[in-house]
Amino acid sequence: MLKHINTVAYCKTVLLGLLILSASIFSPAVYAQDANAISTDPAVIQQGEALFKANCKVCHAVNEQVVGPALAKVYERQNMDWIIAFVRNSQKVIQSGDPYAVELYNKFNKTEMTAFDFSDDEIKSIIAYVKQETENPTVAAPVATATDGATPAEGSASAGMSSEYFYIILVVLFVVLVLILIVLGLIVSVLTKFLNQQGNLDEADKEIVNSKTDLGAFMKSKAFVGFAIFIFVTLVAKTAVDGLFSVGIQQGYAPKQPIAFSHQLHAGQLEIDCNYCHTGVRISKSANIPSANICMNCHSIVKTGPQYGEVEIAKIYKAVETNTPIEWVRIHNLPDLAYFNHAQHVEVGNVECQTCHGEIQTMEVVQQHALLTMGWCIDCHRKTDVNTADNGYYDKLVELHNESSKSPMKVVNIGGLECSKCHY
Ligand code: HEC
Ligand code: HEC
Ligand code: HEC
Ligand code: HEC
Ligand code: HEC
Ligand code: HEC
Repeated sequence: MLKHINTVAYCKTVLLGLLILSASIFSPAVYAQDANAISTDPAVIQQGEALFKANCKVCHAVNEQVVGPALAKVYERQNMDWIIAFVRNSQKVIQSGDPYAVELYNKFNKTEMTAFDFSDDEIKSIIAYVKQETENPTVAAPVATATDGATPAEGSASAGMSSEYFYIILVVLFVVLVLILIVLGLIVSVLTKFLNQQGNLDEADKEIVNSKTDLGAFMKSKAFVGFAIFIFVTLVAKTAVDGLFSVGIQQGYAPKQPIAFSHQLHAGQLEIDCNYCHTGVRISKSANIPSANICMNCHSIVKTGPQYGEVEIAKIYKAVETNTPIEWVRIHNLPDLAYFNHAQHVEVGNVECQTCHGEIQTMEVVQQHALLTMGWCIDCHRKTDVNTADNGYYDKLVELHNESSKSPMKVVNIGGLECSKCHY
């Protein structure tokens, strides 16, 4: 009899162990190890980086969509065999009817990816590099005057990550605890039955054994209910706080535009200067979006493009003929209460467009790079030196500043944190 009980208890323990193990499979760490064993050898990653930069960079970035999708976590979306087949000949995979490939192809407006005659190991090395960049994105080289001011993108990316982990850990914890409770409850009820059948217990022992410890009672117990409420409230609070903090913040916003205008083509490949189209950027508060007339300077001659043929350029002609402005969707948008001046930053401050807008010249579709929150403005004003070179206006200020301080004059020192400078 006792032997049977032991066996039952033993089975239960094993069962519990298995359950915990299966729960832990949800954890991302275990997943990553499973996925086709991607190398973390620095030499392999370096080879992959070189191949990526020479062959893929024109169309791909790891953490950003360019011509093709962001390759971050591609090794989680597809297995290595699929990736190898796709890189060797994407058209073959698409024509085979692979639903994922077909959907992706359509999503990217049927852009054909170049075929690469690479070995398995070469492609695996590229993916090893992609994985390393997914997990530890290299910080974009700080641009000119802007010291290491504006790389808010990374901060928020890691914030998004940690919140993902937070949920996974909570859910796993909860599931494991409930399972433990159920198993413990079962063991107790089996033991109770067994001891009662033994019949040789005195009254006091019987009372202990038969006291209400069954599962139903436990589920109703204060401790359990309290714990469940705690988990629930934490989840709700976390969701609410996340929601509040993201109100009005549109980092990464990349709406579809009425004409498939590409900065990657015009500002990147053709190297047209930003000022050519954004005529206000050095002389006024706003940068301006070019009118169709500026497009026509070239497109009265250039009637067809490499990707869309005549279709997209025809829309420019239609706008000019019917005299209706092209309705570009605005991407960056501060609320009315804030004042921001381009000329002050670009012309006077000598801050590069890319510091605030990201690598626009590589974007097929423009997306919002920075947070554009008050904290973002202030943070940069704290860190960035004022560009005082060749600017007589600052001579006196610099003199005054140097009397009281040894560090270079920052924007904060000229009043860059005063409310009235940014608020009407
Ligand atoms: C000419 C542009 C171009 C080049 C060069 C290019 N790709 Fe692509 N890639 C694309 C496009 C566009 C897609 C989306 C699918 C489609 O339209 O066929 C894509 C999709 C992919 C995908 C699938 C992504 C996903 O989210 O599932 C992988 C993997 C990939 N490319 C890897 C590479 C690698 C590795 C290289 C370099 C050896 C490379 N690509 C070079 C344009 C390109
Ligand atoms: C040939 C003209 C042209 C050139 C050159 C050009 N742009 Fe643009 N830009 C546009 C047009 C048209 C739009 C509106 C459509 C869009 O968002 O893609 C735009 C939109 C933008 C936006 C988003 C505006 C918004 O709605 O918030 C930014 C930021 C931007 N450009 C920055 C740049 C930078 C930086 C450069 C230089 C590296 C540059 N542009 C070069 C034509 C141009
Ligand atoms: C300084 C010259 C110049 C200006 C200004 C210019 N473009 Fe272009 N654009 C070109 C050239 C050149 C091509 C074709 C490139 C090629 O065929 O490789 C092109 C191609 C295009 C294409 C076709 C892309 C494709 O892949 O099929 C579109 C759409 C386009 N431009 C829209 C615009 C719009 C909208 C504006 C105004 C906001 C504009 N362009 C201003 C030179 C210009
Ligand atoms: C210090 C940060 C910063 C720099 C540097 C900067 N921008 Fe902007 N840009 C912004 C902000 C903030 C907005 C949103 C402005 C608003 O909503 O009033 C914006 C908006 C824009 C827009 C949308 C239209 C407009 O005027 O609001 C364009 C186009 C643009 N920027 C182009 C450029 C170009 C081109 C350069 C480089 C010559 C540049 N920006 C440099 C921060 C910057
Ligand atoms: C990449 C760094 C950077 C970011 C981001 C930035 N600024 Fe600035 N800002 C500067 C620099 C540099 C100056 C000094 C320019 C000069 O010499 O007048 C400046 C000056 C100013 C001034 C004039 C201050 C004075 O005392 O004369 C105002 C107003 C201002 N910024 C508003 C903003 C607002 C609003 C934002 C956010 C939407 C913002 N800035 C984001 C770098 C930045
Ligand atoms: C360098 C520029 C800058 C300075 C200095 C600045 N602000 Fe702001 N502030 C902004 C911008 C930009 C926004 C809009 C942020 C957004 O949409 O998230 C903003 C938003 C706000 C808001 C609206 C609430 C919100 O978060 O959207 C309040 C209130 C505010 N600021 C108060 C102040 C006060 C008080 C000071 C002085 C102690 C100050 N600001 C100084 C740029 C600035």
